[in-house]
Amino acid sequence: MSKERFEWLSSVAGEVIKIPGCESNVKEIFDKCWELRKKREDIVVFNQFDEFGNYLWHYAVTGKAALEVLRKAMSAKDRFTGLIASSGSAGTISGCGDYLKENFPESKIAVGEAVQCPTLLLNGFGGHRIEGIGDKHVPWIHNVRNTDMVIAVDDNDCLNLIRLCNEPPGKAFLKKQGLSESAINDLSLMGISSAANLLAAIKFSKYFELTSRDLILTVFTDSMDLYESRLEELRAQYGKYSELEAVKDYNRSLLALNIDHILELNYYDRKRIHSLKYFTWIEQQGRNVNELNAQWYDYPDYWKNIQSREDNIDKLIGEFNEKTGLL
Ligand SMILES: Cc1ncc(COP(=O)(O)O)c(C=O)c1O
Repeated sequence: MSKERFEWLSSVAGEVIKIPGCESNVKEIFDKCWELRKKREDIVVFNQFDEFGNYLWHYAVTGKAALEVLRKAMSAKDRFTGLIASSGSAGTISGCGDYLKENFPESKIAVGEAVQCPTLLLNGFGGHRIEGIGDKHVPWIHNVRNTDMVIAVDDNDCLNLIRLCNEPPGKAFLKKQGLSESAINDLSLMGISSAANLLAAIKFSKYFELTSRDLILTVFTDSMDLYESRLEELRAQYGKYSELEAVKDYNRSLLALNIDHILELNYYDRKRIHSLKYFTWIEQQGRNVNELNAQWYDYPDYWKNIQSREDNIDKLIGEFNEKTGLL
């Protein structure tokens, strides 16, 4: 994780335990949680990868917000073609994706990951630099049976893009290409995994030969606030950014994007990805195999049951806030 991400964590947590490894070493975090839980029974682990509160939040909150945005942006002749989002906990792609597909049954759900860690694409593994996504497993809360496509993007393209969009010679070059002043001022809203989402969305558009009638949706999960040190590291590694570098990055990491590393999922592709859950969640993390099967064979009822908990959970949150005097 970047220096800023550690600093931010320290500002919100009483104690931060560092685990060796890179972005995709999440199994090691699970191991540490088990170690702590075995020592003290009163420890509660909020695991974003298997807590359905995460899925439900993205279904009920991100999903509704996304729909509101789409309704505003769409004219009568437009169609919503798909949601594209990389998977970290899969909360966004799964929860928001299910909500949007319910509202636009013809639309697609496309999940992104890193070419360097192609777990969904190839049952693959590996280290990558897109902070916040791609953890060498399929999250328990991912509704794989409703996912239509996997798109892997190169982490080099993500880093090239954040250099292009944040280094002054990059911004000056983009201005020459016709980008407005206000768009240039907003470029720092796109962090590394947001760049991954943008690149995946472009690949999606090329794959389905989208036209001006099509609207797609992706999310910018975080901004550059937490990654300035990554820009410094890239400067130290490759030298000062120049217009020549900007021209290279613009062409190789944006214009040259094509439809490689994409898989449009059929029934058995989905089942292959779903089955990967077995090794993480049943063998390692002690979840129940009947529930794993229910996610697949009781589709969509298993998922609808979770979605139907929204009102009850809202009530419980209300009661909790009342009790604690938080609101
Ligand atoms: C920076 C960043 N990008 C992307 C994601 C992925 O989102 P999700 O966990 O909903 O799949 C996360 C999630 O933790 C994140 O921290």
